[in-house]
Amino acid sequence: MPITPVDKVWFNGTQVDWDKANVHVLTHALHYGTGVFKGMRCYETPRGPAVFRLKAHLERMVRSAKIFLMEIPYSVDEMIDATIELIRSNELESCYVRPLAFRGYGEMGVNPEHNPVDVCIAVWPWGAYLGDDALKHGVRMTISSWRRHDPNIIPPQAKVTGGYVNSSMAKLEAVRSGFDEAIMLNSQGYISEATGENLFVVKDGEILTPPLAAGPLPGITRASVMTIAADLGMPVFERLMSRADLYVAEEVFCSGTAAEVTPVREIDGRMLGEPGPITQTIQQAYFAIVKGQDDKYIDWLHFVRA
Ligand SMILES: Cc1ncc(COP(=O)(O)O)c(C=O)c1O
Repeated sequence: MPITPVDKVWFNGTQVDWDKANVHVLTHALHYGTGVFKGMRCYETPRGPAVFRLKAHLERMVRSAKIFLMEIPYSVDEMIDATIELIRSNELESCYVRPLAFRGYGEMGVNPEHNPVDVCIAVWPWGAYLGDDALKHGVRMTISSWRRHDPNIIPPQAKVTGGYVNSSMAKLEAVRSGFDEAIMLNSQGYISEATGENLFVVKDGEILTPPLAAGPLPGITRASVMTIAADLGMPVFERLMSRADLYVAEEVFCSGTAAEVTPVREIDGRMLGEPGPITQTIQQAYFAIVKGQDDKYIDWLHFVRA
């Protein structure tokens, strides 16, 4: 989806013009994928723009950096303030937020420890990741021939830029085969997740999701959906599932900051059809929460205007 430029980007502690937020071609992360990142969304609410679970997302980014032995030179609170200030400066009512910490220019070679850690935060208006139609009618998915990388290759808990070659390969394969999105199995053949989303499966009226041990990213939206569903009296069970479980599911939906709660309408020619009742209930609850229409979850929103 094209990026809509805005005025300012936060880069190493200051706001710079959008066109000046650049790096040298010998930046370490460009060559070796040595960065950690996150994605958040800021939504329009009756109390002005608010970022959904800002602190939880940034804490997750710091944990990714820890796994990768990378010290981010800004605290979570400093990055929260930087994000809020940036949304204000760009006068956005809603946007996507992309913080990234990466090994910068310095030395060349795979050892990153002598390269500086550069940090940027970019915001821009961004629509539905898989499309508005996808939110209403669902996406067509395929099981990828590419396996999700193993925890002892690149830990899925760490949202490391280099790890996304795995997702990109699977996404390209799916799109070139006429699907919207790919589902990846782990090296044991169990369902892990989609290329940028966690998966939920409804079977015999129960909501199931692959356990973290099966290799999905511990998504903030995944955790939020689990809380929302439990609060609605529909606890989510973590269960190992194989591809056939998806083919005979009653409903499948995916979750993620970018994809929000998106129904799945087909997997490899097995039709699930229009969004089912559980998917619709979770999706409606999620959108009401992120848009500030449900006071019960107001603590999950970080308001841009105090
Ligand atoms: C591979 C992968 N799985 C799941 C997710 C969903 O994570 P979250 O809900 O924290 O956005 C993402 C999104 O960043 C992702 O890239």
